[in-house]
Amino acid sequence: GKVAVLLGGVSAEREVSLMSGAAVLEGLLRQGVDAHAVDVGPHNIDSLTAQGFDRAFIALHGRWGEDGVVQGALESIAMPYTGSGVLGCALAMDKVRSKQIWQTLGLPTAAYRVLRDESDLDGLIDELGLPLFLKPAREGSSVGIGKVITADQLLAAYQAAAKVGDDVLAEQFIPGAELTVAILNQQALPIVQMTTDHEFYDYDAKYLADDTQYVCPAEIDVELSNSISQLALRAFAALDCRVWGRVDIMLDANQQPILLEANTVPGMTSHSLVPMAAAARGISFDQLVLTILQTTLD
Ligand code: DAL
Ligand code: MG
Repeated sequence: GKVAVLLGGVSAEREVSLMSGAAVLEGLLRQGVDAHAVDVGPHNIDSLTAQGFDRAFIALHGRWGEDGVVQGALESIAMPYTGSGVLGCALAMDKVRSKQIWQTLGLPTAAYRVLRDESDLDGLIDELGLPLFLKPAREGSSVGIGKVITADQLLAAYQAAAKVGDDVLAEQFIPGAELTVAILNQQALPIVQMTTDHEFYDYDAKYLADDTQYVCPAEIDVELSNSISQLALRAFAALDCRVWGRVDIMLDANQQPILLEANTVPGMTSHSLVPMAAAARGISFDQLVLTILQTTLD
């Protein structure tokens, strides 16, 4: 049948999605799939059926595309789609709810506070220490994220994060290594470690800088690697996430993994981590996209 590669969308990650979607489309075309790019938004999602599509590959990031909304819209027109369902996407997009679920299950995640207005900044530094991170609760690609190193940066960082989303997550800083675990069909792919000269793995480090370094498989001993992979799988499943995705983790100074967040439609650009992890397992980009697409037939 005819596959719609949904890309673009209406979130702050639109540009990233255009790159992910273009790469996915090319991969599917190389594999002989009848695939077409569709730049979607709330205005044209209903027209997919009329255009003769019978499956959707979701390459949308962020709000509306990765948070359960488009998944719900596709359910309502009975169109099979790739990746997690409504609940998994909604939970994973919300960093606060993700952490609350993980905490309930005893899975490790950094100390935090939810900020709804400026008065919630009172006592924050005493509670979480410095540096700390401020993150829009429901965004991706590090958009709106600030690392607060000194107290005088707090208010501006809060305002920048609050401009992007309503709720802001204040999170304790975990010094250590930034890792990610890509997941494909209930299996963890080799762990990727990122190193950047930026203060953290921010938007520039992700998509623009060419000095960001990636090590895959990460240089971590087998036992620890296995336990990190198991943690990622549990964290992913706890949010009802399925098929494919990526769990971001800090490995702290005591070699303890600390969960940061899960992504249900991780980036698929030339700089992206899931394709890198797949390659380390001997899975080509084309096989990866085909495998993900295949799950829509199950
Ligand atoms: N939110 C971006 C696309 C990622 O997680 O890769
Ligand atoms: Mg994310």
